[in-house]
Amino acid sequence: MADIEASIATEICGVKFPSAVFNAAGAKDVSLEDLDALGQSEAGAIVIKTATKEFRAGNDLPRWHADGSGSLNSMGLPNLGYERYAAAVPRLKEHGKPVIASVSGIGEGDNELMLAAYDKAGVDMVEVNLSCPNIAGKGQLGYDYAASRKMLENCRRVTKLPMGVKLPPYFDRSQFEEMAAVLTETGADFVVTINSIGNALVIDPETEEKVIAPNGGLGGLGGGYVKPTALGNVHMFDQILGGKLPIIGVGGVAAGTDAFEHLLAGASAVGVGTALVNEGPAVFMRLNAELRTVLEEHGYAEPAAARGKLKDKPGTSA
Ligand SMILES: Cc1cc2nc3c(=O)[nH]c(=O)nc-3n(C[C@H](O)[C@H](O)[C@H](O)COP(=O)(O)O)c2cc1C
Repeated sequence: MADIEASIATEICGVKFPSAVFNAAGAKDVSLEDLDALGQSEAGAIVIKTATKEFRAGNDLPRWHADGSGSLNSMGLPNLGYERYAAAVPRLKEHGKPVIASVSGIGEGDNELMLAAYDKAGVDMVEVNLSCPNIAGKGQLGYDYAASRKMLENCRRVTKLPMGVKLPPYFDRSQFEEMAAVLTETGADFVVTINSIGNALVIDPETEEKVIAPNGGLGGLGGGYVKPTALGNVHMFDQILGGKLPIIGVGGVAAGTDAFEHLLAGASAVGVGTALVNEGPAVFMRLNAELRTVLEEHGYAEPAAARGKLKDKPGTSA
């Protein structure tokens, strides 16, 4: 083991985080009790559930499934509505770590309204969620570049806070290039990638049934199922953006080594969804200890030192 005691703290857009491992928006962060539990845990930040203007009960049950390979969900954005969350921000800040708000407006002007309220409430950063795959009748904005551009321009006008964008997974180079141009030209400050891989189907062969009920049984994939796609998305955005925008890598983080891989691919911090739902907020103590160990083993003093250090595999001609 290298002779260092690695820190796991990180900094994004001038905001200091005690750990580079946060909750991903939507995982164990819906109720105010959930948010306090994140505050009391070793999570590096409190990321508040993606809010809509009004309270939403979300989709019918069962809407969550986990197995040894990952998770499938069709939650449908259950949340308390932004006003309850904004009112709780001063109290959440007392936990002594940054608070990040996430918004996904359903109606015109909703995002701007929510961002202005969160700005006033004193959150440290905001995430504009362009990528919820589980709202019936509503496509993912992140796949419509012109609509994403317009939305982010409007959001940029109402908040001076560091503004991140939660993106859906992309699969073709042209998609990464289109979205990278939108991000840089609209003044986004950081990238959060990936959201769940939408419209996936998990089948229980015993019962011959779909494992979740809403949306015809189709839902968003998370956990181990998505890690390679998430790493590819982090790496592609880091390369195309030339390392200029910090990235919060999300997808398949269930161990310190997964977090380390995200850092190598270009992330400055990681978000944890499926593993947090499976294990509860104690997961952060384990992940922080594991990340510290892997950083030390590889001789990195802190997460920032490992960022983007991924090496090419040397090839030989066939
Ligand atoms: C139960 C659940 C709820 C989620 N809700 C949201 C949400 O409200 N907003 C959001 O941006 N992403 C949401 N996501 C997506 C996660 O933030 C994350 O991007 C995705 O699950 C991949 O990470 P994972 O592999 O660690 O699960 C949700 C995921 C899960 C499992």
